[in-house]
Amino acid sequence: LALRPKTLDEYIGQERLKQKLRVYLEAAKARKEPLEHLLLFGPPGLGKTTLAHVIAHELGVNLRVTSGPAIEKPGDLAAILANSLEEGDILFIDEIHRLSRQAEEHLYPAMEDFVMDIVIGQGPAARTIRLELPRFTLIGATTRTGLLAAPLRDRFPIQERLDYYATPELTEIATRAARKLALPVEAPAVEELASRARGTPRIAIRLLQ
Ligand code: ADE
Repeated sequence: LALRPKTLDEYIGQERLKQKLRVYLEAAKARKEPLEHLLLFGPPGLGKTTLAHVIAHELGVNLRVTSGPAIEKPGDLAAILANSLEEGDILFIDEIHRLSRQAEEHLYPAMEDFVMDIVIGQGPAARTIRLELPRFTLIGATTRTGLLAAPLRDRFPIQERLDYYATPELTEIATRAARKLALPVEAPAVEELASRARGTPRIAIRLLQ
């Protein structure tokens, strides 16, 4: 966890994306509104979760991390949205394409109107109650946008792709990680390892360890 960059300036690479994010973050701060919902897509290990942490830090809000497979029932989603988020906080759902159909349908009004209708009780005694939710930001992560149902995809005003990293960027990431881990590795070794990491920081850091 200590390896993670805290700010956009500390986050290495993804320059095109960082530039856009700076604009979105400044706009949200200037309007004193939560950041708009954001979909991050791209191959695993490129730093989508890390970027969510950075965004939360830059906005000075809390981040709650979960994943599509961890949310099985609408009740799981209701518990997260109603109990663990404050105004402006960020909910990060990794592998959002793996949300159940039911949970996904409950997410729509939560994203659009910050409400969630849940059924309590069973049979004739069942009734629906409307939960008012804090205005939050959803950051969804997936490997390809094509994996998402169109109605879900369309509810993200901001959609951004992460690209593979260049070897010099991976070298810098691995060099910093080595320093933080107090690993005595020499520069040529780090460069060699970065060149074999297939453009992916997670692989570079794993090779380092
Ligand atoms: N650790 C993993 N990915 C990173 C990145 N892009 N910048 C800095 N540290 C990282």
